[in-house]
Amino acid sequence: MTYEEATKLLAKCGQAHVLAYWKRLGKKDRDSLLAQIATIEPKNIAQCVKTLRDGAQVPDSSKGKAPKVAVLKGKALKAAVEAGEKELRAGRVAALLVAGGQGSRLGYDGPKGCYEIGPITNAPLFYFHARKILARSLRYGRSIPFYIMTSEANDAATKACFEANGYFGLPKEDVFFFTQGMWPGMTKDGRIILDRPGHIFMSPDGHGGLLAALKRSGALADMKKRGVKSVFFFQVDNPLVEIADPAFIGYHVAEGSEYSLKLCAKRDPYEKVGMPMRFGDTHRMVEYTEMTKEQCERRDKNGRLYFLYGSPAIHVFDRAFLEAEASKAMPLHLAFKKIPCVDAKGAVVKPSEPNGYKFEKFIFDILPNAKKAAFLAFDQAEEFSPVKNAEGTDSPATCKADMQAKWRRWLAAAGVTVDPALPVEIDPAYALDTADILKNGVCLGAD
Ligand code: UD1
Repeated sequence: MTYEEATKLLAKCGQAHVLAYWKRLGKKDRDSLLAQIATIEPKNIAQCVKTLRDGAQVPDSSKGKAPKVAVLKGKALKAAVEAGEKELRAGRVAALLVAGGQGSRLGYDGPKGCYEIGPITNAPLFYFHARKILARSLRYGRSIPFYIMTSEANDAATKACFEANGYFGLPKEDVFFFTQGMWPGMTKDGRIILDRPGHIFMSPDGHGGLLAALKRSGALADMKKRGVKSVFFFQVDNPLVEIADPAFIGYHVAEGSEYSLKLCAKRDPYEKVGMPMRFGDTHRMVEYTEMTKEQCERRDKNGRLYFLYGSPAIHVFDRAFLEAEASKAMPLHLAFKKIPCVDAKGAVVKPSEPNGYKFEKFIFDILPNAKKAAFLAFDQAEEFSPVKNAEGTDSPATCKADMQAKWRRWLAAAGVTVDPALPVEIDPAYALDTADILKNGVCLGAD
């Protein structure tokens, strides 16, 4: 992009001030500023300004009802597993990981997927995800392509982690990295913020940025070429997730669903998880921050929480649905933050109070657009124990304890007794469940 083109684009967006310091910039800074400006799309800037003016569209959760949630048992479970296995054997399943976020609550600087969680081996989160995909694809004799969304800040380190670990055993050609978009931060009155003269403050566009990034990167086209029908979505922070779980895939396909969600009973009424609610014929996700105290505590006639099931962000999407949604605009969510900025003289200021907005898109905002959505309950202890905080709930300590408790249950069911004082770790490529332990046998060692 040339200076003239940048001037024209910014004038069109009402953001001419971005070039205010052009004259004092050196060649390198000028080039990087032009590269930043080249990523700006006028329609996105207009959407940011409109959202700041009108406010983010937060659903009125007071009218929401609890969704219908299936609990699969016996014959129904068997049928779902068989249907899912058929999809896996036919190579119609892909895995999709959103790993672009920053581990700020955890206080970890690198990509969160590199965070070491293996109770014995200190293997990173990525290891457990990749090895499960490997095991599942070996079990069904077809590859499960693995699409990983990174962000500008962690893309190189994420790829380096996979390279250094030999892709954790996965064929390299089945791993597809793609980078989410960055959007500029703005002041309340819709002016793009410069965090130093000649540099725009930009932040990742949220996990909803996934759709545009899937399309832009060619990942959607790659899925289509490979004959993928169902896309299993998960978040980087949960090593308990049963990736490409046949029961979930099978239920999704049998229901003719475009967007299916696994849900688990909340551990307490205020657990910080999103809550899908029914509004007439459609569903939408209501974030825990948007629920009233009355809603959180509401009980049914049996004394159970009325809004019982929360979302651990484990989804299956119909690929064609993602493709259709990727061409549409998504709503924006606002985060009011302390953003470094430049004063009238061009000096950098670090504000002590929030002064500007970051914009984020959330993938679950496409839920109301699904012609058919399906909800499946599962046991939290089996599949959800995220690493979010450095200490306390949802921390490395609780996650490691939950991982080991799950492996101990498998071992006990296979008739193997393990000294409770010893740590336990199972490579997913060795065993995905009790059946694998029975098949492969166990060699126990204390060293
Ligand atoms: C999220 C969900 C919440 C759900 C919970 C389950 C939102 C707003 N809320 O909360 O409904 O119950 O997980 O654990 O998502 N990410 C990106 N790019 C970004 C931002 C995030 O790829 O720009 C990825 C992260 O790497 C992570 C996932 O999205 O894998 C979730 O992000 P995080 O900010 O940790 O979500 P939560 O607020 O914990």
